[in-house]
Amino acid sequence: MELNTIERDDIGAAAEDLVVPPAATRKVFVKTYGCQMNVYDSQRMTDALATDGYVATDAVGEADLVLLNTCHIREKAAEKVYSELGRIRELKAERAKAGREMLVGVAGCVAQAEGAEIIRRSPVVDLVIGPQTYHRLPAVLAKARSGEKIVETDYAVEDKFEHLPQPKRAELIRRGVTAFLTVQEGCDKFCTFCVVPYTRGSEVSRPVAQIVAEAERLADAGVREVTLLGQNVNAWHGRGEDCEEWGLGRLLFRLAEIPGLARLRYTTSHPRDMDDELIAAHRDLPTLMPYLHLPVQSGSDRILKAMNRRHMAKDYLTLIDRIRAARNDIALSGDFIVGFPGETEADFEATMQLVEDVNYASAFSFKYSPRPGTPGAEMNDQVPEAVKDERLQRLQALLLKQQQHFGASLVGRTIDTLIEKPGRQAGQKVGRSPWLQPVIVDEKAGEIGDIIQVRITKTGYNSLFAELA
Ligand code: SAH
Ligand code: SF4
Ligand code: F3S
Repeated sequence: MELNTIERDDIGAAAEDLVVPPAATRKVFVKTYGCQMNVYDSQRMTDALATDGYVATDAVGEADLVLLNTCHIREKAAEKVYSELGRIRELKAERAKAGREMLVGVAGCVAQAEGAEIIRRSPVVDLVIGPQTYHRLPAVLAKARSGEKIVETDYAVEDKFEHLPQPKRAELIRRGVTAFLTVQEGCDKFCTFCVVPYTRGSEVSRPVAQIVAEAERLADAGVREVTLLGQNVNAWHGRGEDCEEWGLGRLLFRLAEIPGLARLRYTTSHPRDMDDELIAAHRDLPTLMPYLHLPVQSGSDRILKAMNRRHMAKDYLTLIDRIRAARNDIALSGDFIVGFPGETEADFEATMQLVEDVNYASAFSFKYSPRPGTPGAEMNDQVPEAVKDERLQRLQALLLKQQQHFGASLVGRTIDTLIEKPGRQAGQKVGRSPWLQPVIVDEKAGEIGDIIQVRITKTGYNSLFAELA
């Protein structure tokens, strides 16, 4: 989905005049926007910065370095960054008055898409760094500290994952019992609405040995549930330990052998890459959680074609039938776009019908947002905002009804729950159901990291309440 050398900013003091804190006492504030892959990337950037003496802080005003890890998927997501930069400009000016430096960096998909334009629009920014160059962060910062403005957006030729340092075990333990692990990055599918192929580059799969080693480190630090990430995670492929070509299904079987890892998930998948082996993994691998996020975007063949999704609505429905035949308790989730150029009322009705046919456990739906440089933005028959609003409301009402129905169907049932963290209210802990819902239990029900059997007593808006079974 979501960087060159420009003139100085307008903050006043020049970087050379400011006190540069010695290594090991520098603080970094990272703010993450967008998808899970950005969450993972922010962690890896923090790990890279730790080797450069930076400690993470939650207090932006105390930060020697502010990093915004940005998302470009819809206009609103991209614009958030500029309003945040406005606030940071004031903080940076205050710190400069006190003689302290504050470097400001923009990373992620806006960085990749807009590059030097970010510094022109927001001169407070010192460095712009694209997702493929995070391993160069310490070198980029060294230059930025000497007062140079940097834009680093080349697609690196070297494998960034090989060069990114691994976090210390204590840091992994601190991060909790669930973790993300990026196995695939980039996209070659070029859906006509989407910026990801431009911001994340072409599809790259990480090698099996690297993934297995990282999963083993996570398990060794007490992680019980790993979610494999990729913009097209089920397009992942690689040479396995047996020298054969593996797909995601085989990889999941291999990761399931790692002691301690009790739960596996993956996201986000494309319907065209759901192969037999992956479906078999859902049938044969109890470790693989019965929840699948499989975006379809639209239920209209005409719109699917215009979106370049390269399948028809009935292909998706047939696929869902096959997946459900393999694992009948699987809960499905999806993404939808309403108001893609040319979408008629009949096209939208086809989407509503598909939703009725599938019956989702949860889903995300968005108004189409024209993105610069994508074919969709150039199409003539853009749908008026008011029509998009109205369709989104109807679709979301239907999806919400299905989600609530799914939650209600679990009341009275006994299910596994992974206890994840203390609850917001005293006396509670929060766990996670196999279908990703938060499960609120009494704090004495188990320790963090335990997988316990609970009986669902009632549903909340987005969560389940349960007692020890
Ligand atoms: N790789 C995934 C999706 C990644 S983007 C897939 O192929 O399905 C996450 C979601 O954002 C998409 O599924 C889509 O629903 C939404 N999205 C992407 N571009 C958008 C745009 N221009 N306007 C509105 N929603 C968009
Ligand atoms: Fe975007 Fe389509 Fe690639 Fe998904 S498959 S990341 S929607 S271009
Ligand atoms: Fe956004 Fe980039 Fe993810 S555009 S959704 S942060 S890959």
